[in-house]
Amino acid sequence: SEMTKINIAIDGLSGCGKSSTAKAVAKALGYKFIDTGAMYRAVTLYMLDKQVDINNPDAVEEALANIRIDFRFDSETQKNETFLNEQNVETAIRSMRVAGQVSQVAAIKAVRKAMVAQQQAMGKDKGVVMDGRDIGSVVFPDAELKVYMTATTKVRARRRQMELAEKGEKADLAEIMENLEKRDRIDSTRSESPLIKVKDAVEIDTSHLKFEEQVQKVLDLAKQRIEAE
Ligand code: DC
Repeated sequence: SEMTKINIAIDGLSGCGKSSTAKAVAKALGYKFIDTGAMYRAVTLYMLDKQVDINNPDAVEEALANIRIDFRFDSETQKNETFLNEQNVETAIRSMRVAGQVSQVAAIKAVRKAMVAQQQAMGKDKGVVMDGRDIGSVVFPDAELKVYMTATTKVRARRRQMELAEKGEKADLAEIMENLEKRDRIDSTRSESPLIKVKDAVEIDTSHLKFEEQVQKVLDLAKQRIEAE
């Protein structure tokens, strides 16, 4: 018989390994992985490239009406890649240029409303592992498993630096730490769905965990919840 599918919400600070963990958990369970940060990054890239004045609500609405984001599996790289209006933007959305603006764009109410509606549609049939800031609180308040991930700023900055280095982008550790702290501050204090640890979330501090260990922790929790369904 087919096993019951659940939704898994993974929220937490910038750069503590939410996406890579969510991806590995989704793969192990045969679930869909959705990186909601990539969606806010793609919107930000569009706003930057088209020089949209994000303080002008009409301009933001018009931009949102022209933005289509989807995820496609690339058989060559064996990876899920982010597409913005039919263009592969997977590399472009990970740049420091986008990282420097994304929190401001993600704080806009109209932007969140449009993204949340798409995310809820993606998860309506369950079997989704979604990572972000407001998944357990706003997108899937009824998710069967909610995880809240943290790590120290230094650990997160080192990991991000290695990630950027792999893509050939050199970045200063202090600059990355500053960017992470600034984003944490904006993401946690904004009025529109700030990052919070909801009561029913399980907290995992990944500062001293190996990647395989943090994946296993989430998988163990997921298996408990699936069995309980
Ligand atoms: O997870 P990330 O670093 O790729 O996210 C990029 C930015 O998008 C982050 O600064 C906060 C924002 N974000 C958000 O507000 N809500 C989400 N569900 C996901 C990301």
